[in-house]
Amino acid sequence: MKDKKHGGRPRLAPICNEMKLDFPSHSKNESFARAAAGAFIASLDPTASELSDIKCALSEAVTNCTVHAYPDHIGIIRLQIKLRTDGTVIMSVKDSGVGIPDIEKAREPLFTTDAAGERSGMGFTVMESFCDSIKVTSKTGKGTTVTMTRKLAGKSAL
Ligand SMILES: Nc1ncnc2c1ncn2[C@@H]1O[C@H](COP(=O)(O)OP(=O)(O)OP(=O)(O)O)[C@@H](O)[C@H]1O
Ligand SMILES: [Mg+2]
Repeated sequence: MKDKKHGGRPRLAPICNEMKLDFPSHSKNESFARAAAGAFIASLDPTASELSDIKCALSEAVTNCTVHAYPDHIGIIRLQIKLRTDGTVIMSVKDSGVGIPDIEKAREPLFTTDAAGERSGMGFTVMESFCDSIKVTSKTGKGTTVTMTRKLAGKSAL
């Protein structure tokens, strides 16, 4: 239902729980981030498939920080998860690394800046396919934030 007080946009369900985690960009911390997110989201009783989708999307975002944001040193990755009362999961992965000069290009399937041929350029495509929406903001030399939203079917966090 439209709500005039919110500029005609549908009113969002309130946030009912949230967490924030800072960890270094060691590649082994990708599995730590997956486990932490899984434990936090468990309160919404997701299906195995929903949990797998969310963890896959998160893995791609965290791996991008390790590989691309901090190519030659270890930096901090900040994971934030918010839950809405209607069962919507909002995950953001933030780094303070090199940034993305052309976000539109970076999000194209098969686009990669990896010269070694080890990457397939499908990370953002995977995030998009496993989430309802993703938002990318970035500033060259300052860092990148990827925010992913996925509503769990028939779930309510109340
Ligand atoms: N956090 C980030 N910081 C800087 N650049 C990034 C970041 N995330 C993505 N990029 C840039 O966007 C490009 C596309 O990312 P994407 O995850 O789609 O593919 P990939 O990481 O190159 O390959 P794959 O994910 O399939 O292993 C990367 O090659 C990189 O240039
Ligand atoms: Mg990637």
